Amino acid sequence: MKKILYLLLIFSVSSCSAKEKGTLTHSYGNENSPSGKLLVVYCSVAGSTAEVADSIGKEIAAKGYYVQISPVKEVKSVDGFKAVVIGSAIRMGQVKGEIVDFVKDFKPALQTKSVSYFVVCMTLKDDTPENRKTVDAYVDPLRNELKPVDVGLFAGKMDYSKLGFFSRFIIKHMVKTPEGDFRKWNEIKGWAKDLKL
Ligand SMILES: Cc1cc2nc3c(=O)[nH]c(=O)nc-3n(C[C@H](O)[C@H](O)[C@H](O)COP(=O)(O)O)c2cc1C
Repeated sequence: MKKILYLLLIFSVSSCSAKEKGTLTHSYGNENSPSGKLLVVYCSVAGSTAEVADSIGKEIAAKGYYVQISPVKEVKSVDGFKAVVIGSAIRMGQVKGEIVDFVKDFKPALQTKSVSYFVVCMTLKDDTPENRKTVDAYVDPLRNELKPVDVGLFAGKMDYSKLGFFSRFIIKHMVKTPEGDFRKWNEIKGWAKDLKL
């Protein structure tokens, strides 16, 4: 019985219901900008990481770059981009597998560019040194593939209405993560503004 429940939990949190599709595709700036093109690629489930990616892209575009913001599943090439910012939601203490696969798949091309990572998660709603250390370790599977020029660790958002039945049950009643938007937009924009490109 315990085994069945455990399998159910793994299945429910690793699969995405129709409700859990947080995607957004956007571009900012002039495609012929002399500063060059930059890609912000992300993997979000409920949408909050997508909004963080958009904010980062908008901020970088304000520095004069053309910025394309795309969900990881839409990116077929990184050619033509001088820098790539790669972001992921955290689920079950891990970055999304699609993002790790993206870094692996495009590693030869990414090695010639400025690459930075960011993650969005609920652990950082309490921004303590210990929680930062925990969240920083979530980035290790990406770091092990490719060393970034910078890493952004951001608090996220929890909205039960965006979750499927099983995820909602687990998050609300078992993990007991509170609802709320804990994203600090000034911190996110500040990171994007200071990003080494
Ligand atoms: C099923 C599930 C598992 C999650 N696991 C973690 C986790 O292990 N650690 C954490 O800090 N946040 C966790 N979160 C919170 C998300 O990282 C947070 O909602 C974040 O804003 C990214 O989500 P989004 O881009 O899918 O909206 C989890 C959320 C859900 C729904």
